[in-house]
Amino acid sequence: MAPPQVLKINLGCGYHGAPGWINIDASFRIWFSRYRRPNRSTSIAPPPCGSPPSVRNRVEEPPPNYRRINLRTGRLPFASGSVDYCYSSHFLEHLPRWEAARLVREVSRVLAPGGLLRIVVPDLELIARLYVGAISAAEPERGAFAALIPEYDTPSHKLNAYFSKHPRREEIPARALRTRLSRWADLRFGAALPHQWMYDLQDLTNLLKEAGFRGITKQAYRRGEMPDLDVLDIERHRDESLYVEARTPGLTV
Ligand SMILES: C[S@@+](CC[C@H](N)C(=O)[O-])C[C@H]1O[C@@H](n2cnc3c(N)ncnc32)[C@H](O)[C@@H]1O
Repeated sequence: MAPPQVLKINLGCGYHGAPGWINIDASFRIWFSRYRRPNRSTSIAPPPCGSPPSVRNRVEEPPPNYRRINLRTGRLPFASGSVDYCYSSHFLEHLPRWEAARLVREVSRVLAPGGLLRIVVPDLELIARLYVGAISAAEPERGAFAALIPEYDTPSHKLNAYFSKHPRREEIPARALRTRLSRWADLRFGAALPHQWMYDLQDLTNLLKEAGFRGITKQAYRRGEMPDLDVLDIERHRDESLYVEARTPGLTV
């Protein structure tokens, strides 16, 4: 008899999917990228996720098992209790908080009893501390904050970038018509929003508790109970992120 299939979903995957997972994102740009010729450089980045220009300017393949789904609808196309693992990195903060709460409730519906959710978001507390440290330092660009979002230079610009991740206008060259069109389509139809709400541990814990999750635990980069963390957790988010895992209530016998 074939072993029961483990269903793993990755919400707001961007270009960063993992094999064996259903990698979900609303992005037309990712969807269209399957039609691009390989090894052709683009002149514009995917949404600035804090990635360095060398990464952002590469033409990337769509992730394996890519499904283009707008997660703002509040519905996941999976049967109740059918999903074993749900991972989401640097996506939740792109939703207004009430939509994030609705999506997390939906995740708890599709997860099996005892199913595991891992959420990675920019860490509001950490970023606030780093910002204050940077402006207090004799040389403001010294310290860990300087390394974050390298395309933004001053502490103030970096902080603002966390609260509204729009690319700077000059980052969009006029000649990149196809990329401009897919970016427009993403914003118009793909429902991709810049950052809407930032989380610290307390707020994220409350959001998960309200959705019925239990065992809410702060984790660390590539540490936790979620499988495939060596692929899923992205190194460039390591120094800015809050990692949290939680489970749906288990079966009672
Ligand atoms: C900052 S990127 C994160 C990508 C990747 N998970 C990472 O950790 O770097 C946010 C992703 O969320 C996606 N996204 C934004 N709004 C969405 C929505 N309403 N439904 C599905 N995906 C959405 C964007 O297209 C983008 O790929």
